[in-house]
Amino acid sequence: MAVLKAMGVVGGGQMGSGIAQLGAMHGLDVWLLDTDPNALFRATNSISTSINRLISKGHLSKAVGTDALRHLWYTSNLEELRSADIIIEAIVESEDVKKKLFLELDYIAKDSAILASNTSSISITRLASATSRPYQVIGMHFMNPPPIMKLVEIIRGADTSDETFSSAKTLAERFGKTVICSRDFSGFIVNRILMPMINEAFYTLYTGVATKEDIDTGMKLGTNHPMGPLELADFIGLDICLSIMKVLHVGLGDNKYAPCPLLGQYVDAGRLGRKRGIGVYDYGKVPEQVKP
Ligand code: NAI
Repeated sequence: MAVLKAMGVVGGGQMGSGIAQLGAMHGLDVWLLDTDPNALFRATNSISTSINRLISKGHLSKAVGTDALRHLWYTSNLEELRSADIIIEAIVESEDVKKKLFLELDYIAKDSAILASNTSSISITRLASATSRPYQVIGMHFMNPPPIMKLVEIIRGADTSDETFSSAKTLAERFGKTVICSRDFSGFIVNRILMPMINEAFYTLYTGVATKEDIDTGMKLGTNHPMGPLELADFIGLDICLSIMKVLHVGLGDNKYAPCPLLGQYVDAGRLGRKRGIGVYDYGKVPEQVKP
């Protein structure tokens, strides 16, 4: 099994920027790509802020932090990912958009490169079907924020090879993560359990059972969750939560997964959560990307 040295990350939002940061902090050369120059600008700022904060708190040495920033490149040109040993996709949670990207990545990536997806819920087998290398396609589902959260959920598609699985697992462990493995069913393990709870919190608000504050306080103090489900939904992004519920609803074929209409209304209104400064809660202004 070859050691992975160069990594491409596609999508420079909250997840992609965190994954790129992790790669650079663990000695890989990293190219972070986004089609939106503003996203790249925000990613540059949030990564350097996060690295400087880790250094000032003593969690990272200055030498490693400085070296990480030197091994990160930002681009909007897919061709620059040509030399990557692994490319991790972290763009919008849409099967059609991701498939189109996998088709393009298959074309530009070197033959040996692994194509991974950070999807929260979409079938890895179907993403792999857009490529000519389904044995080199795998799900690597990082948690938010990637530099801090300890878990990576790995999902094998129908044709993912043992070698691809070993490489992805070794990389996640090199990043200091614990790996869990899921079969390729909508929502995998974590979101299959988490998202229906968040959706139910929206139904609880929608049907007037309680205020948003009481719903969140109930789950924090009543069940020892560090964040309430509505707060957590704002942190994840309401657009992401809605997309995942739609995937669960269609993929698992049960009406218990139908997205709450209130969640859909917030997304229609552009209230996407903390990244937009407003979601279930009003944050007053668009905050700096939430980083450790
Ligand atoms: P985000 O909305 O913060 O960022 C997505 C980025 O992708 C944006 O900057 C956008 O400009 C870029 N983009 C969209 N289409 C693109 C394309 N074709 N080529 C290049 N860049 C493109 O989204 P976030 O939260 O980072 O989520 C990304 C992925 O990670 C989704 O699949 C999501 O389900 C998954 N995920 C999200 C988590 C969360 O808590 N938000 C946790 C774990 C996984």
